[in-house]
Formats: sequence, structure tokens, C-alpha cells
Amino acid sequence: MNVDFYEKIWMWAAGGIIVIFLASIGFTTFGKAIQPPSHVEMINPDSVRTDPEFSRPGVTMNADGSVTVVIQAFMFGFTPSEIRVPRNRPVTFRLTSPDVIHGFQIVQTNGNTMVVPGYVSQFTTQFSRAGEYLIVCNEYCGLGHHIMAAKLIVEESPAASGAGAGMGGAR
Ligand code: CUA
Repeated sequence: MNVDFYEKIWMWAAGGIIVIFLASIGFTTFGKAIQPPSHVEMINPDSVRTDPEFSRPGVTMNADGSVTVVIQAFMFGFTPSEIRVPRNRPVTFRLTSPDVIHGFQIVQTNGNTMVVPGYVSQFTTQFSRAGEYLIVCNEYCGLGHHIMAAKLIVEESPAASGAGAGMGGAR
């Protein structure tokens, strides 16, 4: 079969573009740890404020050294509005909204998710740099959208004994 020279060029170019697309997905997934959300867990938005988990949002230190952070995103703020987590520990964020769609972006990190009423958004990440991070809502949610923010404080890992105990259940 005779394939025209210019057609060959286009076939190779199209094939090359597909390879670049697949490689960029692989690079962001494995190289940059950016993953699409795959966690589907539903919750009735009307019951968020009485839910046993989400009515008591806060930071919990788990026995295995990991951390769970439960957060309510609402018009127009986050509870808790100040979150303290240790450095270099897996931190799992669990979020939901009792009202409308919000965003949850920890600026200058890969922590970023939509918060959709009816669903629990969850992701796990680690923070290698101690310090203060700004958390913003990045989905327009109403007149107070621009003031919807919170603060994440990444602390040097507490010593093995005692120091972490005070953080359990911090609100
Ligand atoms: Cu919440 Cu914008």
C-alpha cells in the first residue's frame, strides 16, 4: 500500500500527539501525585450539621501516625478555620457542604478539591514544608465567596511521646 509522504508525516504527528497526551497523564499522576478524585461517598446535605462526624469537625491523630481532618465548607467559611497538622505525615482531608458547591484549595500545595453538597470529598496528601498555608474557596458560591478562607499550619512533627496527644480532637 502506497502512503503519500505528507500523509505519513501527519500520521506520525497524530501518533506523537497521542503519546504526549498519555505521557502527560502519567507524569501528573505518578510524578506530581495529581489524581482525579475517585472517592464516592454520599451524605444528605440537610443532615450535615447533625451528622456524628461532620457536626464535630476537627483534626484527629490516628494510632498509625496518620492524621484525619474533617471539615465543613459552608457559606462563607470553613470549620475549623484554623487547622494544625504535623509535617511529613499522611493527612486525609474529609469535606462536605451543607449548602452549595465550594472549593477547597491549600495554596502552593497539591491539596485541592471541590466540595459538593450531597458528597464527601476526600483526599490524602503530605506536607513536607512546615509553615502557614492559605486555604481558599475557589468555586464561586455567593456574595461572600471572596472572604471564604481558612488557615493551615504545618508544624514540625511532634516528638514521639506526649506532644501529639494535645492535638487529638482539637477544634
Ligand atoms: Cu465557598 Cu466560594
